[in-house]
Amino acid sequence: MSEGKETIGVIGVGWVGLVTASCFAELGHPVVARDIVPEKVAALSAGETTIHEPGLDELLARNAERLTFTTDMGELLERARLLFVCVDTPPTRSGDADLSRVRAVVEGLPEDGGHVLIMKSTVPAGTGEAIRRDRPGLAYVSCPEFLKEGSAVADFMHPDRVVIGADGGDEAAADALARLYAPLGGEIVRTDVASAEMIKLASNAFLATKISFVNEIANVCEEVGADVGEVARGMGLDQRIGPAFLRAGIGYGGSCFPKDVSALKMLAGNTGYHFQLLNAVIEVNELQKRRVVQKLLGRLDSLVGKRVALLGLAFKPQTDDMREASSLVLAARLQGEGATVSAYDPVAADAARELLDGVELCDSALDALDGADAAVLVTEWPEFAELDWAEAAGRMARPLLIDGRNFLDPEPLQAAGFEYEGIGRATADSPAPASAD
Ligand code: UDX
Repeated sequence: MSEGKETIGVIGVGWVGLVTASCFAELGHPVVARDIVPEKVAALSAGETTIHEPGLDELLARNAERLTFTTDMGELLERARLLFVCVDTPPTRSGDADLSRVRAVVEGLPEDGGHVLIMKSTVPAGTGEAIRRDRPGLAYVSCPEFLKEGSAVADFMHPDRVVIGADGGDEAAADALARLYAPLGGEIVRTDVASAEMIKLASNAFLATKISFVNEIANVCEEVGADVGEVARGMGLDQRIGPAFLRAGIGYGGSCFPKDVSALKMLAGNTGYHFQLLNAVIEVNELQKRRVVQKLLGRLDSLVGKRVALLGLAFKPQTDDMREASSLVLAARLQGEGATVSAYDPVAADAARELLDGVELCDSALDALDGADAAVLVTEWPEFAELDWAEAAGRMARPLLIDGRNFLDPEPLQAAGFEYEGIGRATADSPAPASAD
């Protein structure tokens, strides 16, 4: 039942907006969600999901009568007071966040309607202050999202924390938002707008730093014969460090980390501050994607005329998202070395097709491996753990596997005849890669 529950407005029905809309509907709120793309609104109104996210279809179906999708901003403004802005803020060529969509939304909001603008989109610190200056009649609250693709519904329903930033005069709006999130149980962090904006950017930049750090540790482990899995386990037990986000691999991708790290670096730079650590985080991540190519050169001497199979293309499992996926750089580098590239991904093939020039997309892992001189595991899809690796070894011209996510157990692979090499993993047959310089 939705009696007594406040109507929620959602502006921008991309991934964040759709998850937000469906989850508030699940909590019993009527929701009006507005997008400028009529086809998207029509599909959602007809009950078709536009993104691949576990649990979302069920939420949409179960709460269909509470959810209205529309292109009409007037309808949204009439029915909802609390407006969640969920439009995207992609990086521009300069590496800053592109705020044009946010601006277009803000300019369209009336100042005398009693609405509360709740900024979910990731924006540079200072954006809220600028909007408040330009539109003093609007109540403004910063409430950044911390959702992970593949577990966004669960993350929304069970947040670690909910950050609510408001400045003088907007406390009542912040209180209303805190009441909305109270049933979810996560700690509510009440702060000012600029600090809320920084919490989001700093959190993602710190997580990216953790990944680049462990990737560099992995590279050193290879030189000294240590195992990065053991090192991360030992480090993670220190409560000040924690075990999460210490998986070495071929670098982070996705729509958030590369964009947010770059946005924070640029934000600092625009104020005249040189955020040196983030330069290293970005550079390590770029080099890490290419390191696999050095590993292959170390074993095959030359890649000219060789066939390399990529297992997985998406930036992480359980998604078809190809944004900033390591596979894009890797495929291009392999082709640049003269290799032909075949690939298989259980769900991202369609999304990958237009991004991967000249890569042969196959219908199964075994098809991709057929005749290959080497394979690279790019995305840790569970089905790769179940693959018949003995059959795969028989199909390949040379059973050589670089496990870019340290996902597979080396022993059975080696027993099946594979030369196996992970990232910073101590295995019987992992020589140091060819020099990176
Ligand atoms: C991330 C943040 O986690 C989320 O809080 C934010 O709001 C949006 O960005 P997401 O991009 O969905 O979420 O992916 P996440 O699961 O965090 O992984 C990001 C990337 O880091 C992936 O490419 C993954 O493979 C890589 N990664 C993650 C590692 O290489 N090692 C790790 O230990 C963890």
